[in-house]
Amino acid sequence: MPLVGLGTWTATDQVASEAVKTALQLGYRHIDTAWQYRNGGAIGKGIKESGVPRSEIFLCDKLISTRHTRAEEALEETLEELGTDYRHLWLMHWPVPLNPEGNDWKLPKLPDGSPDYYTGTSSSPFTFVDTWLSMESAFRKYPSKHMASLATLEAGSVVPAVNQIEIHPQLPQDKVIEFCRQKNIAVVAYSPLGSPQSTVLTNPKLKTLAESKGNGIGVANLLINWALARGYGVIPKTTSPRRMTDNLKLVDLTEGEMQAIRDVGLSAPKRYCTPAWAAKGVFLDES
Ligand SMILES: NC(=O)c1ccc[n+]([C@@H]2O[C@H](COP(=O)([O-])OP(=O)(O)OC[C@H]3O[C@@H](n4cnc5c(N)ncnc54)[C@H](OP(=O)(O)O)[C@@H]3O)[C@@H](O)[C@H]2O)c1
Repeated sequence: MPLVGLGTWTATDQVASEAVKTALQLGYRHIDTAWQYRNGGAIGKGIKESGVPRSEIFLCDKLISTRHTRAEEALEETLEELGTDYRHLWLMHWPVPLNPEGNDWKLPKLPDGSPDYYTGTSSSPFTFVDTWLSMESAFRKYPSKHMASLATLEAGSVVPAVNQIEIHPQLPQDKVIEFCRQKNIAVVAYSPLGSPQSTVLTNPKLKTLAESKGNGIGVANLLINWALARGYGVIPKTTSPRRMTDNLKLVDLTEGEMQAIRDVGLSAPKRYCTPAWAAKGVFLDES
């Protein structure tokens, strides 16, 4: 898995295909999308127009919470939308099943406004573990060598290859990263810059540190390289070709600089992605 990929959340159809095409031409080989981003067609178009062979591109997409009971159908539909017959990584977008027959395709709600979770029936309860089992059964029809070397967890027989979670200095996620390392699960940081609302990107201490590194290094580079040095992948989102190029710059960080970046985050801990459906206490760490 290429460690620096392109995020595409909020990249609308109008800009997503151009962004993906440009990123691939600039050397990106990992594209992160999800059915929920509603830009699959544009992503597929960008891949085709880039001229980069499909076989060189690591593509990740995700099963939306309202389709946990129809994993295989969702898998096939997404592939069709993306205009491809495979991708390397298929994630459960969030381990929170939502009512597939609810009043919204993305976040169905009950009359009192709370999320309409799907829990099955009293005789046949349904949790995200059942989702995983149905993803496994779909996966067996689309075998992938990437899973072959992984050990097993308690439920099912296929260990997730990747855990994609929010990580940046304000949410360093040490415990989850360590858990994944022990289980041989690769980690990918989403919102590695702290998302569009980031306060780390504009932090004056980090700006000074970035400037001291020279070579046009910016705070985004510090955050991306901080992640790489900690041993996991990142998928920063941008539709700007200049930022795409910038975000690929590698920079060595000393132990002191790694700690300084961490300290800036720890002085103002924050989780940026808190969708309404996450209210059920699915966070394991630093929540
Ligand atoms: N699995 C999940 O549940 C989940 C949740 C959230 C995100 N994700 C994935 O992770 C990706 C990244 O997360 P994210 O989009 O939340 O946030 P992010 O990548 O941390 O930050 C994106 C923001 O940073 C700006 N930016 C990018 N490069 C920059 C640079 N060099 N200098 C200054 N600003 C820069 C972007 O602006 P411009 O676009 O204007 O350049 C955008 O506003 C998503 O796009 C999505 O693919 C997954």
